[in-house]
Order: sequence, then C-alpha cells, then structure tokens
Amino acid sequence: MQNSNWYKNHWSLKKHLNAAWTKNTEHQVTVLENMLQLKPNANILDLACGFGRHSLEFSRRGYRVTGVDLCREFVDFASQQAKQERLEASFIRSDVRNFNSNEKFDIVLSLFDGAIGYLESQFEDQKIFNTVKRNLKQDGVHLAHILNQKFYSKKCPFHEEVSVCGSTTYNFYLWDEVNNTLIHSGYTEKKKLNSQVDPSLQGEASHYRLYSVNEISKMLDVAGLELTKVKPAFCKNSVHALQSPELIILSKVK
Ligand SMILES: C[S@@+](CC[C@H](N)C(=O)[O-])C[C@H]1O[C@@H](n2cnc3c(N)ncnc32)[C@H](O)[C@@H]1O
Repeated sequence: MQNSNWYKNHWSLKKHLNAAWTKNTEHQVTVLENMLQLKPNANILDLACGFGRHSLEFSRRGYRVTGVDLCREFVDFASQQAKQERLEASFIRSDVRNFNSNEKFDIVLSLFDGAIGYLESQFEDQKIFNTVKRNLKQDGVHLAHILNQKFYSKKCPFHEEVSVCGSTTYNFYLWDEVNNTLIHSGYTEKKKLNSQVDPSLQGEASHYRLYSVNEISKMLDVAGLELTKVKPAFCKNSVHALQSPELIILSKVK
C-alpha cells in the first residue's frame, strides 16, 4: 500500500550521501551553467536541494544561491559545508510549497525531481509550481529535472545496477498504472538482482507520481508559467527527449 508520507521520512545522509545518483555533481553543474547561459552575478534558488550538492557547487563558481529542503539533516549539513568553505550560499529548512523569499530569482531549479510528484496528490504537487512562479523574476528561467513517464511506464518492471564514480546502487522499479506512480527501491548493498522483488513490500520504497510532458505543461500554465523547451537530461548520447529516462523542462513566466 502506498505511504503518502514517504517523502517526509525517507531522506538521510546515511542512506543518500554516497548513493550513485548523488555523484557527478560537477559535471551536472557545468551542463546546467551552459544550458542556462548564467550571468556571473545570477541568483539561484534550488528547490528541494537535498544536502546542497548543486547549490554548493554553483556557489563555488561564484553564483549567489539559496537552497531549500524539508530534511533538517540535509539543510544542517549544507549550511555547515557553506560555512566551512566561506561560500555565499544559504540553506533554509522549509516545505517547498510554503517557501517565500523577499527577493526574486534569476533561476529556479527543481533538480533530481525537486520533490515534483512526491506529494499527497496532484493538487499538492501543483503548489510547487506556484512556489516557482512566486519566486521567479519576470525574465527568469525555471528548470525542472524529472523522470520521464513515457520511459518508465513502458520499461517497468525492471532492475538495474548503477555505478557512478565508484558508488554502486541496486535499483528495483515497478509501475503502478492506476496511480501513474513509479515505485522505486534503491540499495547500496547487493540484492538478488535476478529475483522478482516487489519493492513496495520492502518498506523503504519511494513513490514518484510521474507526469507526462503535457500534464507538466498544464501545471506550469495554471501557475502562470509557460513551457519553453524539453530536453533529455544529462545524456552523453543525443537521445530524442521523449525516449530519455530523464527530462529537463524549461519554462518562463507567461
Ligand atoms: C531526490 S532528492 C534530490 C535532492 C537534490 N535536488 C539533489 O539533486 O541532490 C529529493 C529531495 O526532496 C526533498 N523534499 C521532499 N519533499 C519535500 C518538500 N515537500 N519540500 C522540500 N523538500 C522536499 C527531500 O528532502 C530530498 O532532499
């Protein structure tokens, strides 16, 4: 059965600091820097920033960054890191739905889901886009990096072993077609990859409601934003966007 609170209790440094999906950050920031053609003094809002890996890297490169996340342990870790390195980055513990800043941002990022699809319902997910709109400058850009519904709904069920920069994660995926939800379990110890594991029975599964590009476009529209581009995310080979496992969706204020 789906635990609609999973996103509140799932995240910890112990589980995620060394997971394969958190690696390659410098490369990702270089890709984003080029894609967004950032001005040297750009100010960036990183929504659901995790333990601040992108925020800290943007800040090392001279940008002014604010990171927001619900997980206290992640926010404390990122703040501590910024202090140690004397970086101009601030980290705030907040639910993305409620976040409001006095200043507006050139760039708003929702990276590695940015919590889109984690919340209790589509109505709640819509509030993330409303937050983007409230905090984005009139000529600013929002970049959302999400899992591709088309890809996962076709490919599931499957399992994979992912190794990035020496970290290996064993992933199991199921597709719940009634709720358009991807059920994912990731482990850093080796599991029996050839068995049909039902991750929803493992107690530690994540439940990502995945949206089609059309649905995202409508949610952006409701928030007062306009989709401008869809690209494959962080892909070395040039895959057609809609065949890629992950997508980058760019939008601007209408
Ligand atoms: C997959 S992680 C991505 C973290 C980061 N963007 C990265 O790439 O490392 C998802 C993050 O969303 C955060 N999160 C989940 N629900 C949230 C909410 N309602 N408000 C703020 N952050 C949330 C989690 O605490 C977690 O850090």
